[in-house]
Amino acid sequence: MTELRTARLLLRRARPDDLDAFHAVLSDPEATRYWSTLPHPDLETTRVWLDAMIASPPALREDFVVEWDGRVIGKTGCYRLPEIGFILHRDAWGRGLAREALEAVSGYIFATRPEIDALMADVDPQNQRSLRLLKSVGFEVTGSAQRTWLVGNEWKDSLYLTLRRP
Ligand SMILES: CC(C)(COP(=O)(O)OP(=O)(O)OC[C@H]1O[C@@H](n2cnc3c(N)ncnc32)[C@H](O)[C@@H]1OP(=O)(O)O)[C@@H](O)C(=O)NCCC(=O)NCCS
Repeated sequence: MTELRTARLLLRRARPDDLDAFHAVLSDPEATRYWSTLPHPDLETTRVWLDAMIASPPALREDFVVEWDGRVIGKTGCYRLPEIGFILHRDAWGRGLAREALEAVSGYIFATRPEIDALMADVDPQNQRSLRLLKSVGFEVTGSAQRTWLVGNEWKDSLYLTLRRP
């Protein structure tokens, strides 16, 4: 069972009992403002999401639950390599924890997956926090597209960022 430890975090694989913690994150309209889905309206929606994360084939996935002081605060990683995504509970923002997790996970992927030349991220151009985070660890904008995601009734655009293997 892969676990990564950083100065403040434990990163580990997802388990069914992470459900309540993930629901707290994914039902928050602020945390999901630039997410690919609307806020989760009920626990069942989060259960389906978590089951898919757990069942994603290991060959394609490098996704990690982020624990801070024994509390599950979100996730960082690739549901499908090489695209990386992250979301943390709002309580955990503004402390450098997302950056700590992203550096650990990207380092682990490059160290253990020689076939991966680069990680990529697909970000709403309005998602300033996410863009700041990605650029702080070395991602660069490599493309963009309009009307890529229909979330609720609203079309969203994408900025594509790439982190090349160091
Ligand atoms: C994107 C997201 C993970 C970024 O979280 P974050 O906490 O802002 O990111 P970081 O870990 O880089 O923290 C940076 C902030 O911590 C502060 N900080 C405090 N201590 C720090 C430390 N030891 N090291 C680095 N930064 C530190 C920085 O000054 C910065 O503050 P600011 O937000 O006031 O500028 C978070 O906003 C989130 O979950 N958003 C919702 C989901 C989402 O949109 N995901 C992206 C989809 S592509």
